[in-house]
Amino acid sequence: MGLFNRETDDSNKTVVPVWFMRQAGRYHSHYQALKKEHDFITLCKDPKLAYEVTMGPIDEFNFDAAILFSDLLFPLEHLGMGLKYAPGPILDMKLETLDDVKKLGQVSPASEFYNFQKEACSLLKEGLDSSKTLIGFVGAPFTLYTYAVQGAHAGALQSAKSGLYDGRFEAFCELLLPAVEEEMALQAMGGADVIALFDTAVGELNLVDFKRFIVPKLHGITKRFKQRFPNKKIIYYSKMTSINHLDLIQDDNIDVLGVDYRHDLAKVLNRYGKDYYIQGNIDPCWLHTSWETLEQNLIEFKNHLYDNNVPFDKWIAGLGHGVLIKTPEENVFNTVNFIHENFKY
Ligand code: CP3
Repeated sequence: MGLFNRETDDSNKTVVPVWFMRQAGRYHSHYQALKKEHDFITLCKDPKLAYEVTMGPIDEFNFDAAILFSDLLFPLEHLGMGLKYAPGPILDMKLETLDDVKKLGQVSPASEFYNFQKEACSLLKEGLDSSKTLIGFVGAPFTLYTYAVQGAHAGALQSAKSGLYDGRFEAFCELLLPAVEEEMALQAMGGADVIALFDTAVGELNLVDFKRFIVPKLHGITKRFKQRFPNKKIIYYSKMTSINHLDLIQDDNIDVLGVDYRHDLAKVLNRYGKDYYIQGNIDPCWLHTSWETLEQNLIEFKNHLYDNNVPFDKWIAGLGHGVLIKTPEENVFNTVNFIHENFKY
């Protein structure tokens, strides 16, 4: 089953497709076993290992899409900021002034630097069953910029927000966007069917700044990508954004909006279903409860959508953020199974 071309079951009902952000990762014993042998960066940068990590949850939990195993902060390494994980990211510098941005430059051509992702995508495209979708991903501009300025996504983001007005965001984007667009292109050339733009930090912004600084950058990225790859799809996931933020996006080149668990999914599907597919938005914390509780919550979740007559054909089931560390694997297995068995229309 693909995310966009769906299959029907024996009784001619269409099954809602499902994948989770961070479906490969620290909660999964398959990942933990590989992590004993290799560090995180090696798992990302060795295409065969990235292939293996990516396939773990496909083989075991039967998700309808595979998401390339990688990380979204490699562009900061590519621009000369250094990058280590312990396990959170550690950079050699932070962009505290405009002069700091001027010190940055590509350590190698983007087409070489991101080649590991292209190769991993090629292996995945070849190894994946043709009924499954391959998702590549990159960081969206504000989220990458927030890590570059603050070193983390925490607190009020005062420095990152000031940088919208003192030229740091603009100067950083001038360097970043051509590289990230090449990263997206390489993943697409490798065989990714969809590229997800993850914007975890953007919901911190007020509506004026979001509209003035962020939306035009998104429009540029998605337009240029679709000019090169008209048949590939784009997901834009943002966290902590309100309906007011989503209203401002208005981007024909975005195919899927991923929304976090604070939203009423029925309202989002009914409001935006004509413009976008909607991905989401089960709370990842529910996967830490007992199966009895989780199952009851999933039933209520589904009933709420039925009661509100949502356009089920525009829904891709998933979480409102990533799978959390220590999530019981059987809850992941049971949730995917439950969705395939019960979320039909
Ligand atoms: O979805 C998938 O299965 C693909 C894997 C994936 C990773 N990172 C692997 C990873 C994806 C989609 C990401 C995206 C990512 N990375 C985001 C955006 C989405 C989100 O989670 O909000 C962000 C902000 C990052 C940056 C990052 N990378 C952080 C903050 C950390 C620290 C710890 C953590 O997991 O939050 C990482 C490291 C990281 N990225 C790990 C994994 C599996 C943990 C590495 C380890 O110690 O084994």
